[in-house]
Amino acid sequence: MVTGWELVLVSFAALALIAGTDGAGTDKTYSVIGGGGTALRDFVSDAVGNATQDANYKGLYLPFYTVGTGVGQQAFLNSTYVYSIGDFPLSLKDYKSAFRPILQIPLSYGPVAIYANVTPEFHKSSTLQLSAPVAAAIFQGNITTWDDPAIVALNPNFTKLDPPIPAGAPIKVVGRTDSNAAAYAMSQWLQQAGNSTWLGGVNKTLPLFPKAKAVSGSGSAVTDYIGKTPGAIGFVDALAGKKAKLADAALLNQAGKFIRYSKGDWTFKGINITTPPSNSDGWASFNITNLPGAATYPVATVSLIFANQDLSEREAKGAAIKAVFGYLLGPSVQGAAKSYEQFPLDPAMLASSVQAVNSIRILDSRDWFQPELYPKLGPPYNVQYKNS
Ligand SMILES: *[C@@H]1O[C@H](CO)[C@@H](O)[C@H](O)[C@H]1NC(C)=O
Ligand SMILES: *[C@@H]1O[C@H](CO)[C@@H](O)[C@H](O)[C@H]1NC(C)=O
Ligand SMILES: *[C@@H]1O[C@H](CO)[C@@H](O)[C@H](O)[C@H]1NC(C)=O
Ligand SMILES: *[C@@H]1O[C@H](CO)[C@@H](O)[C@H](O)[C@H]1NC(C)=O
Ligand SMILES: *[C@@H]1O[C@H](CO)[C@@H](O)[C@H](O)[C@H]1NC(C)=O
Ligand SMILES: *[C@@H]1O[C@H](CO)[C@@H](O)[C@H](O)[C@H]1NC(C)=O
Ligand SMILES: *[C@@H]1O[C@H](CO)[C@@H](O)[C@H](O)[C@H]1NC(C)=O
Ligand SMILES: *[C@@H]1O[C@H](CO)[C@@H](O)[C@H](O)[C@H]1NC(C)=O
Repeated sequence: MVTGWELVLVSFAALALIAGTDGAGTDKTYSVIGGGGTALRDFVSDAVGNATQDANYKGLYLPFYTVGTGVGQQAFLNSTYVYSIGDFPLSLKDYKSAFRPILQIPLSYGPVAIYANVTPEFHKSSTLQLSAPVAAAIFQGNITTWDDPAIVALNPNFTKLDPPIPAGAPIKVVGRTDSNAAAYAMSQWLQQAGNSTWLGGVNKTLPLFPKAKAVSGSGSAVTDYIGKTPGAIGFVDALAGKKAKLADAALLNQAGKFIRYSKGDWTFKGINITTPPSNSDGWASFNITNLPGAATYPVATVSLIFANQDLSEREAKGAAIKAVFGYLLGPSVQGAAKSYEQFPLDPAMLASSVQAVNSIRILDSRDWFQPELYPKLGPPYNVQYKNS
């Protein structure tokens, strides 16, 4: 995998090569600067790194700064970044403050999972099962011990454990005090499916209820604590959980089935996901938590590309920017998503994302690329240069 800093170095090297061969002092002309969510760091950094290695895309310099979704959005809104990628939509206020047509384009789905450190015996044979009302009561400190009847009722295996879970074994809740997309998705589920138990509201910054262990900075702060602390429980993006080798809980979905994210049907077969038009403020409330379907995992973020719809005046590199988005939606990146615990878009969502990219207006198809560097944007990338 290529980290952010390695990526910058690699790309500088590539840039030097290009500058050396064409001698046109093309320098910055080739760069398309983006930035965004830290939970997406590996996925997006590797994706744009791979784009610079793709024969169809040679000549691009694609620094991507992982500054967090919120900061990335602000830097895009103030035009420091040409585009941004993050795992929650722009707020209504931010969307309106832009005073220009902005696209929010789905890129992938990112599960958010609950991880616990019950007992080694338990994890050897069983998967923790939780419903939204019980998870809400645990995170709020209403349920404080692992042998609470509400937990045992969802986990019959608790009664068969040898050694059994000690009576009164304390639950140690851990949570982040800083804004994060996992909190946003999890609190939506607790609110939507929690039968009014959840009091924390829907928010990226959640209140930490009494006695919870406060951490901040990244998902690994949560998983480190869970891994080291018997009795701990918390939630985080699935990539952080996988890196820490923790076992994710099965969550009760809207259809009444317990399901782990890895067993979910991320093609959402038979389920209508209603998406707002790409260039509308409707994305502020868009979410895919608690959707129907027997095989639907109920808690996930949608990673979104934030982009300007009209690049005909603001940017002289519209074709290059479209090329990057086409690559991100193309088979190479979509096919790689799963190895980052992201899931590729289902065919309907992918088609509407490609359509959104094609709605970006650019100055001229040759505004940026020299003919020999002109990326191939037909199949498999399906992006068109022509303004529609
Ligand atoms: C980037 O390329 C590497 C090497 O081919 C591959 O293993 C990885 O999955 C790719 N990642 C993305 C996001 O395209
Ligand atoms: C744009 O926003 C980013 C992130 O908030 C900030 O760091 C940067 O200073 C801002 N730049 C300008 C020119 O306002
Ligand atoms: C309960 O335990 C049995 C046998 O140990 C195991 O096969 C089953 O998968 C467990 N159930 C869950 C939900 O983990
Ligand atoms: C659950 O915990 C919250 C926060 O600590 C508290 O406000 C609420 O009253 C508790 N609910 C019950 C039913 O005890
Ligand atoms: C929510 O409450 C209803 C009515 O009391 C109950 O039938 C249902 O099972 C509850 N849902 C969950 C997930 O506990
Ligand atoms: C989210 O949390 C912030 C800071 O705690 C608070 O100011 C805001 O009102 C909350 N928003 C919602 C929708 O609860
Ligand atoms: C999904 O939407 C389409 C078109 O709006 C409709 O024909 C179909 O019945 C819907 N399917 C479900 C499962 O709601
Ligand atoms: C999530 O989507 C549902 C269904 O469209 C909607 O009712 C709900 O308000 C949305 N949640 C948020 C926080 O916007």
